[in-house]
Amino acid sequence: MIGPIRLVVATPEDMFSLGADLARLVRPGDLVILTGELGAGKTTLTQGIGHGLQVRDQVISPTFVLSRVHRSEVGPDLVHMDGYRLTSSFEVDDLDLEAEMPTSVIVVEWGGGLVEHLSESHLDITINRSLDVEDDTRHVEIVATGPRWENLLADWEALINQDMGRDALADAEGSFDE
Ligand SMILES: Nc1ncnc2c1ncn2[C@@H]1O[C@H](COP(=O)(O)OP(=O)(O)O)[C@@H](O)[C@H]1O
Ligand SMILES: [Mg+2]
Repeated sequence: MIGPIRLVVATPEDMFSLGADLARLVRPGDLVILTGELGAGKTTLTQGIGHGLQVRDQVISPTFVLSRVHRSEVGPDLVHMDGYRLTSSFEVDDLDLEAEMPTSVIVVEWGGGLVEHLSESHLDITINRSLDVEDDTRHVEIVATGPRWENLLADWEALINQDMGRDALADAEGSFDE
């Protein structure tokens, strides 16, 4: 296990940018699992990933389709899944993702406990809202499992520092000293 990396994400634009940065590092076969309540920002993050991968069509909430494939002409395709209505990993196997995995990055909302078996490595991204409803800040925690992400997380952190400013990481670290 690598991480956690903790981030404070102030705006939807920053969440999008976080996904776009991640898209610069991923390759076909990568598995990203998103956890967070409704409205946390899972789809917003996925939209950033889709933008970074230059997928053709718009990334929207997959809620009513379980899984949607977005083709890219320049990089890996994006498989965007929603595990909300799935209750077991057997149902995941019925979706026949094996066919898409070699050419796609798989991003699964509500995927925790359901899709880990699809790959020996995966990235877990947990998004938490502030308790204060007026506060749009999201706290993001990133943990990597498996060999694939060993050096990549440091690279991602460097991109985040460039794009979101050093504050995001520094703030998050500071808040754990209290
Ligand atoms: N800091 C933030 N990060 C992400 N989304 C935010 C943030 N602040 C406000 N929002 C809003 O919260 C909502 C998140 O929705 P969405 O990405 O669909 O969440 P989920 O897929 O987790 O249900 C969007 O309307 C977005 O504009
Ligand atoms: Mg969503």
